[in-house]
Amino acid sequence: MKSDTVYLNGHFLPSDQAKISVFDRGFLFGDSVYEVIPFYQGVGFRLDEHLQRLDYSLRALRISIDLDIRGVLVDLVARNGGGNMSVYIQITRGAADKRSHAITDGLRPTVFACCQPIRDIYTDGSATVEGIKVIVTADLRWRRCDIKSNCLLPNILVLQQAKEHNAQEALLQRDGHLTEGASCNFFIVERGVLYTPPLDTGILSGTTRALILEIADSQGIPRQECPIDYERLVNADEVWISSSTRAIVPVLQVDEYPIGNGDKGPLWKRFFDIFTRYQHNLMTGANHEPEDPSTSDGTP
Ligand code: PDD
Repeated sequence: MKSDTVYLNGHFLPSDQAKISVFDRGFLFGDSVYEVIPFYQGVGFRLDEHLQRLDYSLRALRISIDLDIRGVLVDLVARNGGGNMSVYIQITRGAADKRSHAITDGLRPTVFACCQPIRDIYTDGSATVEGIKVIVTADLRWRRCDIKSNCLLPNILVLQQAKEHNAQEALLQRDGHLTEGASCNFFIVERGVLYTPPLDTGILSGTTRALILEIADSQGIPRQECPIDYERLVNADEVWISSSTRAIVPVLQVDEYPIGNGDKGPLWKRFFDIFTRYQHNLMTGANHEPEDPSTSDGTP
């Protein structure tokens, strides 16, 4: 088995040598938080935003750590050969000496990080992106989905449900409105206007979601954060999902309903091009503002 270098509690070591306690609260209770951060050519994409959200999640759980996380992640990517990597970091409350729901004072948090190669969406281009099918199912998760916690059993089960329906993602519905996907946010387009559910509906504040809204603002494309119900979803001109590892993906079918004309939509294509251009510029140290390639000179 190939053994990659991982980070565990101050050490870089081969993954098959990394061990945690059976009493670790992350293992026993899911008492932990995590981030998934794309690195392109060794450069973290929206790294500040991911680290801020990690800090938010840690504060919500009242876990405090004293560690240069940015330095650890950059080092980890370099030790794994750089390139395009998806970096996973998980911080648990730590291990007590026995199993108990009650939190013991003085625990030392467990910090684990690893990475795996991801596609470079910039060089692949929009023509190679495949649209997906999603199902809609009940959102049975807890009410603090603003915290990126490892309590992911509902997410895993709905993803399996999607797979059994030949779909690639599940959108979740609560109190008559869609919230987000099992591991993504979502958008709809109606007559040129972009809509996504607001953050106060118990969803994760996605870093990709935020970037899409920034792009809309910079391009003067009208956008609104508002509750979206099933009727609007299936009748939308376009539906997209967004996440750090998948960027922006067009949804071509929701349950048995084709979206729009069943093909990738024009606004998705425009956003995808701006998004990937921005990603490329970050890697090369060029202009950091999201910009529309159709209005620039065309040199990448
Ligand atoms: N998931 N909503 C949920 C429930 C998520 O799990 C994710 C990301 C997002 C999108 O957030 P961002 O754009 O910052 O990646 C929204 C990651 C990729 C995961 O769990 O693997």
